[in-house]
Amino acid sequence: MSLRITDLGKHYGDVPVFEHVSLEVAKGEFVAIVGESGVGKSTLLNCMAGLDHWDAGSVVHDGVDIGALDAEARAIWRRRHVGFVFQAFHVLPHLDVSQNVALPLMLLGERGAAADERVTRMLDAVGLAGLGDRLPQQLSGGQLQRVAIARALVHQPSLLLADEPTGNLDPTTAARVLEVLLAQTREHGAALVLVTHSEAAAARADRVLHLSADGVR
Ligand SMILES: Nc1ncnc2c1ncn2[C@@H]1O[C@H](COP(=O)(O)OP(=O)(O)O)[C@@H](O)[C@H]1O
Ligand SMILES: [Mg+2]
Repeated sequence: MSLRITDLGKHYGDVPVFEHVSLEVAKGEFVAIVGESGVGKSTLLNCMAGLDHWDAGSVVHDGVDIGALDAEARAIWRRRHVGFVFQAFHVLPHLDVSQNVALPLMLLGERGAAADERVTRMLDAVGLAGLGDRLPQQLSGGQLQRVAIARALVHQPSLLLADEPTGNLDPTTAARVLEVLLAQTREHGAALVLVTHSEAAAARADRVLHLSADGVR
């Protein structure tokens, strides 16, 4: 078991976003979460990453109760075990491609030849060999998202979370980026939770879950 969410509830003031969300994601499994805009998909994903707080229930990852960790322990856990891919890429504009991909390793204190080698291998794997010295502004949207995928996997996290990762891409580029995301996630043996509007993306999942205000099924 990689991730177990039990009876999770989240509200803003008196307004509930979702309640009674329970799900399990096995090691190496690919789960897609679909649902109407505003139903709380991003919020749920952020809770899975320990980036957001919840009001009821629990998030347990490989036996670690994320809600029981203080902010610092949570950050350390996240750096080590989680990779995140956002719709809007979130590639840092002043760092070149290699530096962007190396970021998770730097945060873990991993530097030197082994880290460089890992970055080079990830760039190769996502089809960006030779582009390590480029700045983000010199890349297309599809290339930027592949930088983000390389960065999310470079430290070999056990859990990869992706929030509409192909939402800003044209259909052909989206299909290519999804292929890279799936192939790399499989190669790393990570569990993948993908939030998506895309039928094509959801169709590739081992399981599709529908999020609504009263749970996920
Ligand atoms: N900081 C916030 N304060 C109040 N409401 C918020 C806040 N962030 C998100 N929401 C609300 O929570 C709901 C879920 O948002 P979100 O998780 O972004 O949905 P989705 O990703 O499914 O489109 C929305 O109704 C949104 O308006
Ligand atoms: Mg969202």
